[in-house]
Amino acid sequence: MSPKRLLAGRPEMQIGATVFAGFVVFLGIIIAWLEVTPIEGQKGICRMAEAASGKEDEFRSTNQTAFVVGHTGETGRALVEELVNRNIFQKLLLIGRRELNYEGEKYSKLEQKVVDYEKLADDHADLFKGHNVGFCCLGTTRGKSGAEGFKRVDHDYVMMTAKLAKEGGCGHFLLQSSQGANKDSSFLYTKVKGQVDAECAELGFEKLSIFRPGVLMVDRKESRPGEWFARKMLTPLKYFAPTVMTCPVETVAKAMVNAVLSPSDKPAEIYENKAVHLLAKGKSC
Ligand SMILES: NC(=O)c1ccc[n+]([C@@H]2O[C@H](COP(=O)([O-])OP(=O)(O)OC[C@H]3O[C@@H](n4cnc5c(N)ncnc54)[C@H](OP(=O)(O)O)[C@@H]3O)[C@@H](O)[C@H]2O)c1
Ligand SMILES: *[C@@H]1O[C@H](CO)[C@@H](O)[C@H](O)[C@H]1NC(C)=O
Repeated sequence: MSPKRLLAGRPEMQIGATVFAGFVVFLGIIIAWLEVTPIEGQKGICRMAEAASGKEDEFRSTNQTAFVVGHTGETGRALVEELVNRNIFQKLLLIGRRELNYEGEKYSKLEQKVVDYEKLADDHADLFKGHNVGFCCLGTTRGKSGAEGFKRVDHDYVMMTAKLAKEGGCGHFLLQSSQGANKDSSFLYTKVKGQVDAECAELGFEKLSIFRPGVLMVDRKESRPGEWFARKMLTPLKYFAPTVMTCPVETVAKAMVNAVLSPSDKPAEIYENKAVHLLAKGKSC
């Protein structure tokens, strides 16, 4: 008997299949609706994105410098590449626990410093002095570092960085947070992200830009089976609803650079996943 006839012979399976198909259609409608619904302030974000295109020369002429922490990570590496390609800073200081190899003329404005984050304030405060802009793409996972280790990095190290940046005179701090960040969440990950966002806002930067991308789409160097599975499951979404739950690391990088070139009027701005996508588009927003 063919599998089709086998199935056809079982009414409970037919009902099951119908319910499942109905659920998939329902989910598809919700996701499509989320994809096409404009977000609050969408026009303003598109204006920012459009204004950022072509501002590189003007910005470059102001001779600004920036630092990046978390530059060795997936988003951090994409950000450095974007910054180098658009060449908007006079100097770029990469601060991390290890160095990467950069060869070639276009990387000549990069400088790297290896630090011990446990002694960041005591030994390395000077590195954070005098930058106009600071980028933070730091973070670990609970799987890799345990709950305490996760808090140490994603909360404590990030806050140390933010405070040193503020004390060092940084005028615009750009922080990579996450979709779902919420200080009142009962999940450790989203709670810590939300706490850090709120504490950074309290530091009173002249400008603060917080980015909350969804699942980062990247062929991760490191093996993280859970994330790999989530990415595979979400791959279809990348095509038919790209701004709902996923975000390529290059998109985060572009949005960050555009936020530097064309900052929001507000002192603190939070870019949720769709806003990150829009801001990254530049002229085509
Ligand atoms: N994964 C997702 O889907 C997702 C979604 C939204 C937001 N986010 C958030 O976005 C941020 C960046 O994510 P990512 O995936 O691009 O990062 P990643 O590839 O995991 O890189 C993290 C960076 O933090 C550094 N770091 C980690 N633990 C450290 C420690 N103990 N001491 C010093 N430095 C340490 C890493 O240095 P090494 O290279 O030396 O390890 C690296 O530079 C994170 O805060 C993450 O929570 C992630
Ligand atoms: C930037 O640096 C260039 C070259 O060193 C100099 O000619 C120019 O005046 C500087 N611009 C500003 C705004 O400081």
